[in-house]
Amino acid sequence: MKKILIGNWKMHKKRAEALSYCASLNYVGEKDVRIAAPYTHLLELSQAAERLGVKVGAQNMHAFSEGAFTGEISAGMLKDVGAQFVLLGHSERRHLFHETNEEVAKKVERAVVEGLKFVLCVGETLEERDLGKEEGVIQEQIETAFSSLGEEHMKGNLIAYEPVWAIGSGRVPNLLEIRRVHQSIRERLGVLFSGEFARTCPILYGGSVTLGNFEELINETEIGGLLVGGASLDPNQFNEMIDLL
Ligand code: PGA
Repeated sequence: MKKILIGNWKMHKKRAEALSYCASLNYVGEKDVRIAAPYTHLLELSQAAERLGVKVGAQNMHAFSEGAFTGEISAGMLKDVGAQFVLLGHSERRHLFHETNEEVAKKVERAVVEGLKFVLCVGETLEERDLGKEEGVIQEQIETAFSSLGEEHMKGNLIAYEPVWAIGSGRVPNLLEIRRVHQSIRERLGVLFSGEFARTCPILYGGSVTLGNFEELINETEIGGLLVGGASLDPNQFNEMIDLL
């Protein structure tokens, strides 16, 4: 199966930097390469990235389609400026902005209704891991997020396992640990959807991915792709990752 590379810029880069980054990216052709960019760059970046075969998406959205929600952005607005996907439930949204599993589920449902593909991010904190609770925590994140969906709604959507303690910390779980958590996600998917879907749904890994560990991670069969934060900010490094994909 085709592996997926997603760069998550978070709150980085002004407009000119974003465009010059895009100008220095290699043509990706048939590879599945995406950038989750700040809202303000989506229109211009999605136009510039189209020529390279790179998909551009957003990092968050509101659960309602419109209304009196000052400062918020809807799925329809994102699509309108060229976003092809949205990250939902990223750990920074869950922990810094206190998004609950239920709120993430509403966003997932809205993305499906509006026809915007999503990448659902799940992962445990260090404390949860130390208590041996990681599988339960992640299974609950999965179960709540997909509670109102049928398998027919899942096409083209992705799941990314990102341990909170691995994000931006330089610490990465070993392959055995990643495999174990991915398997437990697949177990839960098998309860919610068909066994075939549970076996084949691509699950990405994210958290301190660098050029140094990229090959080992991307070559692991269980890992469907990588979600890269800090190391995706440098176009040269991102180009090298694209080459290794
Ligand atoms: P990181 O971030 O690669 O900087 O650890 C990953 C993410 O938050 O998606």
